[in-house]
Amino acid sequence: MTRPERARSFGAAAEEYDRLRPAPVPAALRRLLPSPDVRVLDLGAGTGLVTRSLAAEGVADVVAVEPDDAMRAVLAARSPGVAALAGTAEDIPLPDASVDAVVASSAWHWFDPERATAEIARVLRPGGVLGLLWSFADPTTPWVAELRHVQRADDKDSTSGVEDGFTIDLPEGAPFGPGTSEVFRHETWMAADDVAAMLGTYSTVLTLSPGERAEVRRRARAVIARRVGTDPVRVPFATALWCATRRPSDI
Ligand SMILES: C[S@@+](CC[C@H](N)C(=O)[O-])C[C@H]1O[C@@H](n2cnc3c(N)ncnc32)[C@H](O)[C@@H]1O
Repeated sequence: MTRPERARSFGAAAEEYDRLRPAPVPAALRRLLPSPDVRVLDLGAGTGLVTRSLAAEGVADVVAVEPDDAMRAVLAARSPGVAALAGTAEDIPLPDASVDAVVASSAWHWFDPERATAEIARVLRPGGVLGLLWSFADPTTPWVAELRHVQRADDKDSTSGVEDGFTIDLPEGAPFGPGTSEVFRHETWMAADDVAAMLGTYSTVLTLSPGERAEVRRRARAVIARRVGTDPVRVPFATALWCATRRPSDI
């Protein structure tokens, strides 16, 4: 499966994605946006997990950009007041200097970094903030690491080695100040079946055959039963945040 095919695989499971994937930890959004009185672009917004989390934090002015029709349809249905635009990070359908913050959650690794950085710098007002987030079951917990192996994601996904102090390298010359990062951890109770089904919302599994997907789910259930042994399961999650400020163009 090619990378572009994986990048476009999520719509096939849009409802399951929305039901099962973790939203960012609220503390990460508060760290990124100390004030809710800002215009925010949710880029690669998917089904709107972050769009809804921003609304819950009191951020009223959000525009979402998402290329996949099925993902965007879920977003539009669940966030009816939000402008949900078809578009990509490499071709953002917004005017220059029109937003105070760009948030890309579990999406940056699908973008072309050179073209996306130029577009993000174009739509951000000077002094605005770029926040790159990833929310995921925490692979520093051994049974979660075993699930990632079942999910065939141990060496492919950008979240596999995320720890405090991680860095993101923007393309050389990008008009952003130095980045800072932080990892926020929390736990949620989930049904064991839902934890196994959540694996099926990742591109590494979405792009398998139906038989292979069923096998991933069966093996995930077996790992959870053997390594955790409870149902529901207390799942450790993490949200990794990296952010940097858009410099004025003349600096
Ligand atoms: C893992 S999902 C994350 C969705 C959402 N941000 C979230 O946190 O749940 C990745 C999303 O990025 C979108 N995507 C893939 N390539 C993209 C691109 N070049 N520009 C913008 N979005 C893209 C996919 O369609 C998908 O909805």
